[in-house]
Amino acid sequence: MATGAATTVTTGNNPLRDGRDSRVPRIAGPCSMVIFGVTGDLSRRKLLPAIYDLANRGLLPPGFALVGFARRDMSDDEFAQLVHESISSSARTPFREEVWQQLKEGLRFVQGTFEDEDGFHRLATTLKDLDRDRGTGGNIAFYLAIPPTEFPVVLDQLSSNGLAQPNPEPGQPAPWRRVVIEKPFGHDLKSAQELNALVNRVFPERTVFRIDHYLGKETVQNILALRFANQLWDPIWNANYVDHVQITMAEDIGLGGRAGYYDGIGAARDVIQNHLLQLLALTAMEEPVSFQPKQLQIEKIKVLSATKLVAPLDETTARGQYTAGWQGSEPVVGLLQEEGFDPNSKTETYAAITLAVETRRWAGVPFYLRTGKRLGRRVTEIAVVFKRAPHLPFDQTMTEELGQNALVIRVQPDEGITMRFGSKVPGSSMEVRDVNMDFSYGEAFTEDSPEAYERLILDVLLGVPSLFPVNEEVELSWRILDPALEHWAANGKPDPYEAGTWGPESADEMLARSGREWRRP
Ligand code: BG6
Repeated sequence: MATGAATTVTTGNNPLRDGRDSRVPRIAGPCSMVIFGVTGDLSRRKLLPAIYDLANRGLLPPGFALVGFARRDMSDDEFAQLVHESISSSARTPFREEVWQQLKEGLRFVQGTFEDEDGFHRLATTLKDLDRDRGTGGNIAFYLAIPPTEFPVVLDQLSSNGLAQPNPEPGQPAPWRRVVIEKPFGHDLKSAQELNALVNRVFPERTVFRIDHYLGKETVQNILALRFANQLWDPIWNANYVDHVQITMAEDIGLGGRAGYYDGIGAARDVIQNHLLQLLALTAMEEPVSFQPKQLQIEKIKVLSATKLVAPLDETTARGQYTAGWQGSEPVVGLLQEEGFDPNSKTETYAAITLAVETRRWAGVPFYLRTGKRLGRRVTEIAVVFKRAPHLPFDQTMTEELGQNALVIRVQPDEGITMRFGSKVPGSSMEVRDVNMDFSYGEAFTEDSPEAYERLILDVLLGVPSLFPVNEEVELSWRILDPALEHWAANGKPDPYEAGTWGPESADEMLARSGREWRRP
């Protein structure tokens, strides 16, 4: 029998795993979603457009209901107007009147403050009515798009008003309740543990969906495909061949308008604790036994448990704060002049750390993670940089321009993968120079990638937790990062770097100590 012609539904080659064809689009069952903080920036720019895009792709149930809850007073029609505006400005897929009309029928708005008991009574009534009129089956996802300081009161209200616990009708299956929370999941290990305990008092862990939107990105999920669907990489994906790994998330935007969230938080808490450590986990973890959520979690938890900062921290970490400079042809101000920031703020807008993954596979391979605002350009990538060949049978002058082989996973923009290796320069002499071999999503596939929030919201409604970090991952990530945060807090101010450059000199020095340098993407 030819390989691949599997006869049972349990082999890895058969799409009918668990009796279900994993290529068939998954459509959410009857349900409603409540968004707290529905008038906020995240909701308008990401959540509402993603919900429309899902509806447009036919992935929401016909009776889907969306309830907005916020302080501001609004009628259902005014709320529909707000949703319409978000869709018009930020949806990924084209506007279709019939999709909009169907979605609109399920839109409701409930006005209330989080402290206001009456608001939650009105919410409960609205949800009951929707269930009766639109057949949502009593299934509800609560999306907390609000600052974590507001979590306790909202969770208490959901619990005391009986909204967190399903109330099955006799003879009917129990409806589900789920809660979606956005980062920051605490500001250090201790506060994260407190927050997790608080959330788990009301919602059992299996019903908690923590959003790390990087896990919703196609290119991030492709790390698993690249590593575990191919034979090519695994033999060299280890300390015998890999010299080091660089994980970069660079942004060119500044922090104007975000002081309320960012001042006092900084780049490491904002991005390294979550997005970059998740990228590290996917890059460094062992193959999961299967793609069941539990198995993925097990491997991520194992690798995060083995990950530690490399000491001494004044040599292996760096942080910076942008000063005035240029972004393209535009002059831009420094962080301390941005509206709302404390003029003495010590908040870092750039952070770099060195990590060791203490496993047999990765012993001695440094993982360098860096992120910053107002850097040269927007790019997120994972570069696996390989050791030099142990011997080169060329004169030294022939390979002067030969660097190290590298596999670069381009998360965004220009999504794809680059392989860098040496090649002969055409001509009568022997000269070897680096060249790039490129795979580009845009060229290889005709389908557009869904937005991260489309994928994640759909997974919440389907109850599929694979792409959501569990509390243990969140706590392990803080455990990794906390010593750097404490070290920085005890050691003055971040180093300045000019906007539009690639970060402070101290970050270059950090790598130079081991004879390495950052890639200039
Ligand atoms: C968020 C951070 O999680 O990710 C922001 O809070 C950052 O500071 C954003 O700008 C970047 O997301 P993306 O998807 O544009 O890379």
